[in-house]
Amino acid sequence: MNWYKVGKASSLKDGDIAKVKVSNREIIIMNINGNYYATSHLCTHEDYDLSEGFIDDGTLICPNHFATFNPKTGEVISPPEGAGDISPLTSFKTKVENGEIMVEA
Ligand code: FES
Repeated sequence: MNWYKVGKASSLKDGDIAKVKVSNREIIIMNINGNYYATSHLCTHEDYDLSEGFIDDGTLICPNHFATFNPKTGEVISPPEGAGDISPLTSFKTKVENGEIMVEA
């Protein structure tokens, strides 16, 4: 596991989601109330790109069928209606150092 710089903290506004590359894989980083979180970028329902998703009330929502995830842990809060269980997202540790968002992967 290594820490990777993924961008300036000041460039990701509250509620923003950005897709970044770490160690040859794409992930998303999110700013929620000044806290930075990172998870895998594909929805576990039908692989929709969650960088197109949105944050609502501290949760990450897939706009395709509205699966809801916990941005901090990747856990599923609610699957799409009628879809049954779906897998959690992979979550990654983050930290901010010298104004840079860092992700461990
Ligand atoms: S693809 Fe994300 S909820 Fe269906």
